[in-house]
Order: sequence, then structure tokens, then C-alpha cells
Amino acid sequence: MLATLLPAFAALTARSADTSLPQVVTQDGRHALIVDGEPFLMLGAQSHNSSDWPEQLPKVWPAIEYLHANTLETPVYWEQFEPQPGKFDPSNVDLLLAQAREHQVRLILLWFGTWKNGSSHYLPLWMKAQPELYPRIIGRGGRRSDSPSPHSQAMMDADAHAFGALMRHLKAVDRQHTVIMVQVENEPGSWGSVRDFSPAAQKLFTGPVPAELLQAMGAGAPAGGSWPEVFGTNADEYFNAWSIAHYVGRVAAAGKAEYPLPLYVNAALRDPLTPGPASSYESGGATDNVLWIWKAAAPAIDVLAPDIYQNDSARYYRVLELYARPDNTLLVPETVTSTTESRMCFAALGHGAVGWSPFGLDYTQYGTDPIGSSRTTEASLAPTALSFKLLEPVMREVARLNFAGKLKTAVEEPGTPFQTLDFDGWSAVINFGEGGRRAAGGNATPVGRALVAQRGPDEFLVLGAYCQIDFKSQSGGQRDFLRVEEGAYVTPGASSSSLISSAMGNRAWEYGGVNGVWRLHHLWNGDETDWGLHFTTGPEALHVTLGTY
Ligand code: DGJ
Repeated sequence: MLATLLPAFAALTARSADTSLPQVVTQDGRHALIVDGEPFLMLGAQSHNSSDWPEQLPKVWPAIEYLHANTLETPVYWEQFEPQPGKFDPSNVDLLLAQAREHQVRLILLWFGTWKNGSSHYLPLWMKAQPELYPRIIGRGGRRSDSPSPHSQAMMDADAHAFGALMRHLKAVDRQHTVIMVQVENEPGSWGSVRDFSPAAQKLFTGPVPAELLQAMGAGAPAGGSWPEVFGTNADEYFNAWSIAHYVGRVAAAGKAEYPLPLYVNAALRDPLTPGPASSYESGGATDNVLWIWKAAAPAIDVLAPDIYQNDSARYYRVLELYARPDNTLLVPETVTSTTESRMCFAALGHGAVGWSPFGLDYTQYGTDPIGSSRTTEASLAPTALSFKLLEPVMREVARLNFAGKLKTAVEEPGTPFQTLDFDGWSAVINFGEGGRRAAGGNATPVGRALVAQRGPDEFLVLGAYCQIDFKSQSGGQRDFLRVEEGAYVTPGASSSSLISSAMGNRAWEYGGVNGVWRLHHLWNGDETDWGLHFTTGPEALHVTLGTY
């Protein structure tokens, strides 16, 4: 299968001369993050904001290990990286690279540059000391806001220069591609004012809408005009989105010119079902209504990614739908997690996600964690670890089958114990709940998750938790489990004893390599298959071969 996919990748990745580089590729409206030449599923954890310091990192790795995460998302602070103008200090980055390699974990670096959550608190001190040169926006009526201005050429140039230096450094020191993606800025946008009302911004606002944006509007776009003339009541927000996206796009392009890793921007979301006015959220960020503006203004950004802190299912699913588009790869770089929310990893996969990463999962014990439970313990990490442990041994295969459009997932919702996933010739019927709770209404809390992917006409990859999975032939015969193998993809030559120690809780370094081969651990039969395939929390993945009688 891989051999048939590779030529397609080669064609798709022509824009980067080095095909060993991580990249985001698109085919038939689906997307993959390619790492070491093959689709990769990012099972991530984002550290707390102040965790990327030498004394803090020892409190990060044990959590990553416990989670079975394959990627750590962690910041690079502009204030630390460029303590004096033009003098760069890569020591934090270098330490991270060394420790990530030791722990066999990939990195996604988060560039805390001009924007961090809509503010500019990570500007180096020498910049903070010159607020006239590196200004914040001015709201309607002259009130200063704590958001940086996207109209400062000096600040944009300084950010592009520093980000370029970071990417140049990565190119020099990371030949093995420990860093697989970089986030440019963090939740860029404006708080407290829908846009900048400074004299410089006013001049642009009453001037012509840029031709690239008119072009992005397609047929029927007005011939031209000022922002209020072209966009009416949306003019303030669209102007801000264009201005910020254009700035971030310039920073991204400067980095990409040095080293073309995949780049993304994360978004603080607006309510996906009942959005309020732009003044009620971070205006100008890559919210769902302005993705088209970001695409037009910042072509160097590969992915616009939602930070999903919505913890009701309807909103969560809607966000996944809004950001999974033929022209946008779904990546969830920050999200909530809990006993029930950890199942949303499977929901994201069902929408084609290339990665999913909860926020704030380390042992630095940031005490006022606004996400909920304030202290990280193994118990608080366990629900996420459950999803990652199931996926880790089949990570490459899951990513490959998802890119090929062969993968579906089911996530339990209260009161809906049954779900059906239709494939070519077969339907998978998921029944959530254990024992007596099945059919009776599902698990006591909605924790069930299931993943089914078609590997061949009668062959499936199946895994799940707190559910039973069975199959129905669409041609009417009775389903027969011909062979059910429990196993994992291992690097050829991995010893059985190391796999056993992995299964007992240590990291499974043997899993998930690009040349992984399926290793059968044992067959399921008898009680294990007579009434469908039962999943609690334990089993590894199954290769299932079906027939009819
Ligand atoms: C979203 C931001 O992107 C993160 O850096 C962090 O501040 C979280 N919110 C949680 O507070």
C-alpha cells in the first residue's frame, strides 16, 4: 500500500526540495502530516506556558511518558530567545531537542512572538521599553488596549527577523526532524477592541481593500472600494483579520524561507453555534468566519487550527466540521481533556484530524489552571492516556488509513448506546457500555470510543474502549469472524520482552516506526468473539477478517 502512495506524495510535495522534511499533504480533499516519508498521527500534549525552562522540563517528561504521547507541544519565548536586539540565545531550544530525543518524543514548537493569547507579553524587554516603536492597538475613542498593533512595521520586521533566526537554527541543528511543526504566534487577535483605530490604521481602513482579498472573494466580488464600502457591518472585523493575518503571514514566510517546516496558527474560537458580535471574542484571529481571509493573507501558513475549549459535544463536533475542510487540515493543538472529553480524540480522528493535543498536561503544577482540575496527577492524565495507549501501537496505520478515507470512529453520547459505521460491503455496529449497561443506555458516563478502518474487502483494523463492536454483512449473509488477531505494529527486530514491558506501562519505543510490521500477539476466539468484540480498557488493536455463511 505504501508503495502506491509514495509517488503521489512525491508529486504533492514538489514545493519542498527535501522530501524527508515533515510536510502537510492533501489528496482528494483529505490531508496527512508526513513525517519521515509517511503519514503520522500526532498524539500530543501541550505543556503549561512557563514549562520550557531547564528546571521545569524534568516535570514535563514523566507526564509525556505516562500519557504515551508521541509529541510534546512547548513554547519558545521571544523574550528568552532574543534577550538583546539581534543576539539570539538558542539554549532552551537546544536543551529541548536533546531531551526530546532522549525520550524519543517529537516536538511542536510554539513561537510566543508578537501575540500570545491576543496580548504581547512575550516581547523582549528591550521592545517593551519602547512602546511607541512597538505599539499596542488604540480602541475607539482612544483607549489603549493590551493587544499588539498589526500595523507596526518595526514590530513585524523584528518578529520576522527573530522567527527567521529560530527556523535557521532548527535547520542547522535538527537534521533528524525532531521538530515536526511550528506554531507561529499564539492565538493572535485583539481583545478589548474589534480593531486598531490608530491614525495609521484609520488611513488603511478608509483606503482600498487589497486586490488579493477581492480576488479571494471570487466571482461576484465588488470591483473595489474602502473596507466599509466593500464589507459594510463586517468591515471592522475583516480589516482586523486581514491586518493580523498579513502580519503573521509575513513572519511565517520569513521562517519558511529559512526552513520549510509545516507552520500553523492556532485560534481562540468564537461560539461555533451561536456566535456573538466580534467584540465578544478575540477579533481578527482565525475564527471560523474569517478562515478565507487568513488563507488569502497568509499563504505561508499551512494549517489554521482550533483550540477547542468547548466542552459540550454539539459545539465540539461543530468546531471539527468547521475546520476540517478540503483547503484546511484538521489539527487540534489545544483542547480540554477529562474522563469523558478524552474520547473526543476519536471524534477528531473521525473528521480526519492529523493530531490532537490537550493543554497543560505536565507536572509543573501550575496552581490556578483555568482548565478545571488544578493539579496534574496520574489519575487526571489517565483518560487521555487511555486513548493514546490504544492508538500508539497502530499510529502509522491509523494515519495512513485516515488519509486514504478508510477510517471511521464512533464516540459515545449520553442515551445513544448504538451507532453504526458503514463501510464498503460491511457495517460496524457499536454498542457502548459494559455488561448489563449495553443496550440499556450505555455507560454511566459517556466514555465509550471506537475506531474501525477498512484494510481490505473483508479486513478491518478495530480498536475501542468501553464498548462492543460487531459487524453486519450488507449483502445479507450471517457474519463469521474468520480470524481475529490482537497485536501491534512493531519495528522489525523488536524483542518480545521489550514489548511486554511496554504493555506493562513503560513507553513502547518499538511501536510506530515507519517500517512497522504487524506482530500477532494472540488470536481471539470463543467467548472473546462469540457475541461480538468486547473492549474495556485493555486490549491492543485487532486485525479482523470477516466472512459469511
Ligand atoms: C489558550 C492559550 O493558547 C494557551 O497558551 C493557554 O493560555 C490556554 N489558553 C489555557 O489557559
